[in-house]
Amino acid sequence: TWTMVNIVEEQVEKIRTQIGDRRAICGLSGGVDSAVAAALVQRAIGEQLTCVFVDHGLLRKGEAEQVERDFVAATGVSLHVVDATKRFLDALAGVVDPEQKRKIIGREFIRVFEAAEVEIMGDAAEHGERVDFLVQGTLYPDVVESGGGAGTSNIKSHHNVGGLPDDLEFELVEPLRTLFKDEVRLVGDQLGLPQEIVWRHPFPGPGLAIRIIGEVTYERLEILREADAIAREELTRAGLDRDIWQFPVVLLADVRSVGVQGDGRTYGHPVVLRPVTSEDAMTADWARLPYDVVETISTRITNEVREVNRVTIDVTSKPPGTIEWE
Ligand code: XMP
Repeated sequence: TWTMVNIVEEQVEKIRTQIGDRRAICGLSGGVDSAVAAALVQRAIGEQLTCVFVDHGLLRKGEAEQVERDFVAATGVSLHVVDATKRFLDALAGVVDPEQKRKIIGREFIRVFEAAEVEIMGDAAEHGERVDFLVQGTLYPDVVESGGGAGTSNIKSHHNVGGLPDDLEFELVEPLRTLFKDEVRLVGDQLGLPQEIVWRHPFPGPGLAIRIIGEVTYERLEILREADAIAREELTRAGLDRDIWQFPVVLLADVRSVGVQGDGRTYGHPVVLRPVTSEDAMTADWARLPYDVVETISTRITNEVREVNRVTIDVTSKPPGTIEWE
């Protein structure tokens, strides 16, 4: 639409004025906000932007490829990928407590991200350039929530945690500061980003680690990734993506139950489907998915994911339940 064309042009102009001929970096999470912010800045300053994508190995099926291949193809952004799967899984070994998982993932993420920043700044310095700007996908609701200051998703405070010199300060570039989520999606469309990224449901930073109830292992992640991919595929096929706020699939990794699959008795794991509707994730209602969609998902998961022999559905609203199980 005209408005979105105007927003894009206006922001591109503003970004050029702010950054000039200096350099910027941007962390990509795979989510829509950071993707749209990065794409806008890329359009404004091209090669002066470097994006960093930390793959912690806790993403859903196909998501790392969406960033590494489809996003790069659509935008031409220069991307620095760090595959840190082993590091994260080593750090998570033996951990079952949800808050502990979050802490570990947050800590490792900052370390890996800062190491990447240092590398990128080193490269720039060799060419006599400086990296002065950090791009963030802060939205208008983030700005309002935090009383007009920087966004809640602000990672700037993390820069004191270690790895970078104390006097290092990035100037923030926040091209989405005046926009709501639906407008961000329209800008993403306007910039030609892949639909899978533009219409992606919110996904927690700690990823699938907080959807595996029990210890996080590579094998368990693979099981959950397969089950989750089926659920998402069928939701999309039913045309329900935009009616559902989020659709977590949860693996009860320490629970087993008896089943019959194929020729014999199995002793597998249950998964829980957790489709919810919501406006802002503060409250949520369990989504009344059509039974035929639930049936297809259940049949496919138990047929295609060997380790799962039972599919259940969570009919708890928030409150009292949270959207995520951990
Ligand atoms: P809950 O489970 O508290 O989740 O109802 C509310 C929303 O927040 C997301 N969520 C997180 N996002 N880091 C994030 O970036 C986290 O640690 C985290 N925990 C929950 C959740 O997916 C939902 O959208």
